[in-house]
Amino acid sequence: MPDMRGERGAGARRRCAADELAEGGGGVRFVVAVGGRPVSAFVVRFDGIAHGYLNQCAHVPMELDWQEGQFFESSGLYLMCATHGAIYAPDSGLCVGGPCRGASLSKLRIEERDGNVYWLPESPYEAPAG
Ligand code: FES
Repeated sequence: MPDMRGERGAGARRRCAADELAEGGGGVRFVVAVGGRPVSAFVVRFDGIAHGYLNQCAHVPMELDWQEGQFFESSGLYLMCATHGAIYAPDSGLCVGGPCRGASLSKLRIEERDGNVYWLPESPYEAPAG
């Protein structure tokens, strides 16, 4: 019998309800495993679409959010690293200003369906053990 605990498809992990992600608003943090090590990640909504990334600046691998879940700068048009102010396009993760201009956030595979937002783990971003 397949495990149907709110998951969808092989390995899909429900991260939040779709209406928890406001356009350009607060994000939902979660944890992924990279090489067996837990790494912070997040999902936000931009232009109506849910996008997920590792919560690591492309400049120095520090978490982006200065207050938990606050990934957008004040205009709601860019994701921003609170440490040295790098800004990122929310749809691609490309750094468009700041010390790591031209680099990108690590994008995760996100799907939205039936009022829920799912993360689909794929190498090298795996579901944490336990
Ligand atoms: S650590 Fe993010 S801009 Fe420097």
